[in-house]
Amino acid sequence: MWVVFMCLVALIAVWVSHWVYIWQNPKCNWKLPPGSMGFPLIGETLEYFTPHSLYDIPPFIKKRITRYGSLFRTNLVGQNIVVSTDPEFNYHIFKNEGKSFLFWYPESFTEIFGGQDILTYHGVVHKYLKNLVLHLVGPENLKAKLLSEMEEMTRKHLTSWARCGTTVDIKQVSSEMVFNYFAYKLIGYDGLEGTRKLRENFSAIINGIISFPLSIPGTAYHACLQGRKNALKMIKEKFDERKASNKKYGDYLDHLLEEVKKEDTILTEEIAVNLVFGLLFATYETTSTALTLAVKFISDHPRVQAELAIEHMQIIKNRQRKDSQITWQEYRSMTFTHMVINEIVRLANIVPGIYRKVIQDVEINGYTIPAGWLVMIVPSVLHINPDKYDDPLTFNPWRWEGNELHLGSKTFMGFGGGVRLCVGADFAKVQLAIFIHQLVLNLRWTVVKGGDIIRKPTLTFPNGLHLQILEKHL
Ligand code: HEM
Ligand SMILES: *[C@@H]1O[C@H](CO)[C@@H](O)[C@H](O)[C@H]1NC(C)=O
Repeated sequence: MWVVFMCLVALIAVWVSHWVYIWQNPKCNWKLPPGSMGFPLIGETLEYFTPHSLYDIPPFIKKRITRYGSLFRTNLVGQNIVVSTDPEFNYHIFKNEGKSFLFWYPESFTEIFGGQDILTYHGVVHKYLKNLVLHLVGPENLKAKLLSEMEEMTRKHLTSWARCGTTVDIKQVSSEMVFNYFAYKLIGYDGLEGTRKLRENFSAIINGIISFPLSIPGTAYHACLQGRKNALKMIKEKFDERKASNKKYGDYLDHLLEEVKKEDTILTEEIAVNLVFGLLFATYETTSTALTLAVKFISDHPRVQAELAIEHMQIIKNRQRKDSQITWQEYRSMTFTHMVINEIVRLANIVPGIYRKVIQDVEINGYTIPAGWLVMIVPSVLHINPDKYDDPLTFNPWRWEGNELHLGSKTFMGFGGGVRLCVGADFAKVQLAIFIHQLVLNLRWTVVKGGDIIRKPTLTFPNGLHLQILEKHL
């Protein structure tokens, strides 16, 4: 009996160690980049998600760069991944989008988007959808319509925060502002009860999207999938309602429905619903995080605040009428403000990883990345590299003086790069610039609580950023 038992134990031990060996040494006919694959199934996921400070490269990445160099392999949330922190290779990845590399997002993303949105389409369809999005958030519409509309909308919000008689958590109120406005622009949501429900569902989605894909009640992932189901249903209902009403509202939903009706169109209603979903997702957390960081960095750096005040006061001085609206020329002339925005985006690294799927074996520095693996670009390594940015952990907008401020480059990929460069970048920048304009001109504020920032590795404000806001009476 004992002999059989011992044999069994030995057999299991051999089998387990074989399994571990296979896990840690994935099959490849050539040489894989160095690195470790962690434990079977969970890989190195837990270490990757360990919270860390805003002002650093994720320790997970840092440790491995020291050990293995700028390119290394790992396994996260069930995927074999090569992490690239090499600017030249990152650039190469962006340039070969659609050839050796394809846009990819974690399983939880594809499951959430149902494979039906701008993120998962390639080539012609991607180009079509991108233009469809630019119709709403591209420079032309910003110039013609959104700039003045957003100014009005932002002013109303800031004034109400100053007059509400209590302190406000800027992360929370700016999230509401961004979401409500965009939901209104997209599908005519009116800022009432329905909008709040939709927003809450998106919060649940965002909280759970980069989490371990375990769907049992109580997990963030489960709430995320529920949120997705609810949100898609609510957007779909709005589509149906609009189709039945025959009334025109002149918003983006009208435009989408017209596109769907066209004869030779690529757009189906299902794609359109998913597109609206994807856009709300892409805007909500990114933009509100950037707005909150703007307040934080400006509050922490009085010299920056003073310089901003000079720039925006000058704009008012040059006007014929002090109370006229911001013009496109004025917006474009806010050079220092744009330097501040780039500096926020550089330090914030709001998107912690950019993923691509490798579709044919790729050779790099004598190593091979096999087809089927993923590559992950980690922008923060570039953005806080002392060889590229002097004193990289300091918030210093002046470092952008004389530099290109509106495109991605080998040293700046806060909005991505290549054909997948963020389509909403101009929209986000207009929102930030208007917000900063009104903040420095019309308000005085003090930070009364919060302001801690933790990455997990997405950026979070565990205790918010609470402000006491007063109107300036000029
Ligand atoms: C500060 C705010 C924002 C930041 C930091 C940001 C960052 C990024 C980054 C890094 C990418 C590239 C992802 C990749 O290549 O894998 C991206 C793509 C994208 N962003 Fe943004 N984004 C912001 C705001 C917005 C807004 C306001 C919108 C919508 C109006 C938006 C819509 C999109 C879309 C649709 C894509 C995918 C583009 C494509 O596949 O061609 N983003 N964004
Ligand atoms: C999400 O949407 C559903 C359906 O509209 C709603 O009942 C629920 O309260 C919303 N909020 C959250 C947090 O799920």
